[in-house]
Amino acid sequence: MQTLTHRKLLLAAALTVTAALTLMQVAAMPGPDSRHTLAAGSVWDSVYSLAQAGRGEATFRASCANCHGDSLAGINDAPPLTGAQFHKTWDGNALSSFFNRINNDMPSDNPGSLSKAQVAEVIAFLLKFNGYPAGQNDLAATPELLSQIRFLPKP
Ligand code: HEC
Repeated sequence: MQTLTHRKLLLAAALTVTAALTLMQVAAMPGPDSRHTLAAGSVWDSVYSLAQAGRGEATFRASCANCHGDSLAGINDAPPLTGAQFHKTWDGNALSSFFNRINNDMPSDNPGSLSKAQVAEVIAFLLKFNGYPAGQNDLAATPELLSQIRFLPKP
């Protein structure tokens, strides 16, 4: 009898501690809004600057246009980087996938020849060309940050 009560008390104490710890964890966790105050959610949130897109256009003309075309419509095997097919492929995907695709595989005749900053600049140009708005800040060249920005259809 004595031991049973004792055990119950211990159990109750353990449960109380667990509950208190859980509450403290929840309280310490930043809310969804405060965690990434600088992060934008989609390509509609002015995620690149016009200056960056200008630098990217020069890189695109020099390293990409011979295959993807001056108007980004695609040539032969090189797919379009604008228009319905482009949106079908990329809408819903994070910019980090787009970044990694270009950073790892493009230009396909010389993969890895662009710096990460140049890849971000080319992406800024592609965003501008596709009608997404520019803002004050450059697009980051880090996949961790780009994973928070998605291609989405016009809201
Ligand atoms: C020598 C030709 C060539 C060059 C230069 C080239 N690409 Fe490509 N690109 C391709 C081909 C072919 C594919 C499709 C097959 C593949 O992925 O290899 C492709 C695929 C892509 C894709 C994926 C498109 C999709 O919707 O699936 C992106 C994005 C891309 N290229 C961007 C670029 C960028 C940016 C540059 C310049 C830095 C570039 N490419 C330079 C030939 C090229």
